[in-house]
Amino acid sequence: MPAAFSNRLVERLKTARRVVVLTGAGVSAESGVPTFRDKDGLWDKFSPAELANFDAFMKNPELVWEWYHWRQTVIKDVRPNPGHVALAELEAWLTRKDHSFYLVTQNVDGLHRRAGSKCILELHGNILRNKCSVCNFKTDAIDLQLSEKLPTCPDCGKLLRPDVVWFGEMLPEFELGRAMEVASACDVCLSVGTSAVVYPAAFVPVNARNAGAYVAEINPEPSAISHTVDEVILGKSGEVLPHLVTAVTKAS
Ligand code: OAD
Repeated sequence: MPAAFSNRLVERLKTARRVVVLTGAGVSAESGVPTFRDKDGLWDKFSPAELANFDAFMKNPELVWEWYHWRQTVIKDVRPNPGHVALAELEAWLTRKDHSFYLVTQNVDGLHRRAGSKCILELHGNILRNKCSVCNFKTDAIDLQLSEKLPTCPDCGKLLRPDVVWFGEMLPEFELGRAMEVASACDVCLSVGTSAVVYPAAFVPVNARNAGAYVAEINPEPSAISHTVDEVILGKSGEVLPHLVTAVTKAS
């Protein structure tokens, strides 16, 4: 049995005109994508200082590319799970009623889009895209063959890098601005599969709650913001979300 959610949450979602969901690595865990901070998570085995910042990339681009290429390969081989699919269904149901839905994600794996979600704000970029480390060139068309030399920009010749946000870098301006705007104006916010320790992403449920929204968290463990939300549903997103979305969409 998946963990229980309240009738209050179901009623709130049924009547909500604006819903915002923040997702983190946990929503993709059941697809086989490793999280960052769980036991055996990526930051347990690898060092962000060596792999996820610009200076590390300039110092040792081979090592950084090797790690991202491995992660790109993992992600290309996995599929969206029932949690991703349920969020796409919730969006479709709300959109049919002309209500708004925003999926703000910290994930770079593109699984929400593959599951059918449309209104997505990717706060930390997308690992399947690459961009130039110097100029504005971006592409999702280059399939990297790292046995050959490191990929370079067709426009300026400098190194290409994954189009993800590294430590110390700014989040994409449009996505961040829009995420904060919709969080502060929503009726219901779900925080799903995130430890909620990384800001500004964690401001999404925090701002939503401060602005009066009903905020529920779905996570097998309490997160850094559990004590601030209206409802904590202790469970896996791939199990809880399909039941929750069915309860909201099928009975009305
Ligand atoms: P974390 O690894 O910090 O947290 C993952 C969360 O998912 C934990 O709270 C787990 O309890 C929860 N979890 C695990 N399995 C789950 C499941 N089946 N269903 C639901 N929840 C589950 O990942 P994030 O919060 O996404 O940033 O981390 C935020 C950012 O920190 C990432 O985007 C990344 C990282 O450094 C960058 O790379 C910029």
